[in-house]
Amino acid sequence: MRIDVVSIFPDYLAPLELSLIGKARQDGLLELNVHDLRDFTTDRHRTVDDTPYGGGAGMVMKPEPWAQALAAVAADRPAEAAKPVLIVPSPAGERFTQATAHELAEEDRLVFACGRYEGIDERVMEWAAGHFTVRPVSLGDYVLNGGEVAVLAMVEAIGRLLPGVVGNPESLVEESHSDGLLEYPVYTKPSNWREREVPAVLLSGNHGNIAQWRRHEQYRRTAERRPDLLAEFDAGRLPRADRTAF
Ligand code: ADE
Repeated sequence: MRIDVVSIFPDYLAPLELSLIGKARQDGLLELNVHDLRDFTTDRHRTVDDTPYGGGAGMVMKPEPWAQALAAVAADRPAEAAKPVLIVPSPAGERFTQATAHELAEEDRLVFACGRYEGIDERVMEWAAGHFTVRPVSLGDYVLNGGEVAVLAMVEAIGRLLPGVVGNPESLVEESHSDGLLEYPVYTKPSNWREREVPAVLLSGNHGNIAQWRRHEQYRRTAERRPDLLAEFDAGRLPRADRTAF
């Protein structure tokens, strides 16, 4: 997969050189290019923002530097290639979920446009639809100062789903949101730590009982912490052996 990120703070994306995603880049599983939006301005001050039409607080990102930057990124592909997906992080976007991460992990090319201030001139998104599949995406119902932190989260969530990035692909199966429930609690040695025992079933060696206990814990946790997820959860999708846990 190839990912391009356009931002006025390219250094914000430096953590993507570390850990699993950094290794995936070194191993050639992921190509990631960060572009400075100001390189696509033409004035002496490298201006990227201006006051909003209609008035109001804050500044809006000017359309032309964005069109220049996105056109350059879009043009950098073979003629027969499909349109890349343009992800615009915004609290006004559709919600980013594990399902979105899986969907986007299937794409060959993703481009992220990091807005700052009050956002990007809306006409950029209309214009970009001619070159990209445009998806405004929100991490959650809160407001960040810009798209960069959201891109760090999304690239990590998507990148770890690419084949070969996570060493043991089984660890992707039994984690929160993989089956609509939160993950079960985990423990390691010692079995008694500061007078706290690991649940006995985990030491029993009985794999059936362990699987059932884990399912039950997933359900209990989800009911307690995320009742909204339980409402959507369909126990009928689980393998028959797991359904007895409920
Ligand atoms: N930019 C600002 N707030 C955001 C959010 N909640 N999600 C994604 N991008 C954002």
